Amino acid sequence: MSFPVVRHRRLRGSAAMRNLVRENALSVHDLIQPIFVEAGTNVKSEIPSMPGVYHFSLDRLEEEIHEISELGIQGILLFGVPETKDAVGSSAFAEDGIVQQATRLIKKWNPNLLVIADTCLCQFTDTGHCGVVHHNPETGCADIANDESLELLVRTAVSQAKAGADIIAPSNMMDGYVHAIRTGLDAEGLEHVPVMAYSVKYSSAYYGPFRDAAHSTPQFGDRKTYQMDPANSREALREAESDVLEGADFLMVKPALAYLDVLQMLKQNFDLPLVAYNVSAEYSMVKAAAQNGWINEKEIVLETLLGFKRAGADIILTYHAKDAARWLKES
Ligand code: PBG
Ligand code: ZN
Repeated sequence: MSFPVVRHRRLRGSAAMRNLVRENALSVHDLIQPIFVEAGTNVKSEIPSMPGVYHFSLDRLEEEIHEISELGIQGILLFGVPETKDAVGSSAFAEDGIVQQATRLIKKWNPNLLVIADTCLCQFTDTGHCGVVHHNPETGCADIANDESLELLVRTAVSQAKAGADIIAPSNMMDGYVHAIRTGLDAEGLEHVPVMAYSVKYSSAYYGPFRDAAHSTPQFGDRKTYQMDPANSREALREAESDVLEGADFLMVKPALAYLDVLQMLKQNFDLPLVAYNVSAEYSMVKAAAQNGWINEKEIVLETLLGFKRAGADIILTYHAKDAARWLKES
């Protein structure tokens, strides 16, 4: 059957009719707001390349946590910018590390807000890499030591969970990281803490503003020996499968916008909750255009976030979360 019997516009004729046949919806429950915390006092400084996103010192954080909770957002993704860096990133797993301190405070202020701890070393190592660097004296090459890095990542995850983190989100892209962290948590009686695996994390220029914000730009080389090649999609299935077998509780695709095909593919192949990370440059590009008056920010953002849902995301990590929560409330 076709035109004139078939007429698609019949189901678009009124707002009520469109509401009736709508396939996907965005809810404030889908959204997670990333937050950057740093040492010091009385700091609330805007990140220049991410307008509307701030660094907070712990004494200025409570107000922000309150605002996020009031908007109905149920979770935050916590990033720490430490005072000191070293070869092994020891401030990542210090008991009084910035992330551990912030976690304890946030859980005290609002026990119901889910604290998701980003588990990586790149903000904490003096190399800016996500693992420990070994220099090969013969070749002069630097290598990111996989298995040695796992031990440090496990210590980091355990200390975050002990501080009260509700979810461990390892973004380091070392092989075997889910197995190592799961085993490490279980050994400490933390078997109830889920792992949100950054399963499919591409080596992406879209992380640029984040690296300014987190002071985590690699001091040499790049992350291409551990993060995925943007040209590959079948490899994403292998990455996700190994995380599932190692005990991951959530799977993630990052970045989101240029990788909606990968999101859809994971949705079709796995049944774990699927997370899309709408990363820093995706945010900054929208903000820049909005500040120039070139786009309708609200409509662009809501359309983009809905696109992630349509592609298969159950959960969206986004710097737009607070704004989106406000807009969803209005409508
Ligand atoms: C650290 C980490 C990065 C992001 C989240 N965790 C950057 C990177 O891998 O260089 C990117 C987030 C963003 O761009 O918003 N491993
Ligand atoms: Zn990292």
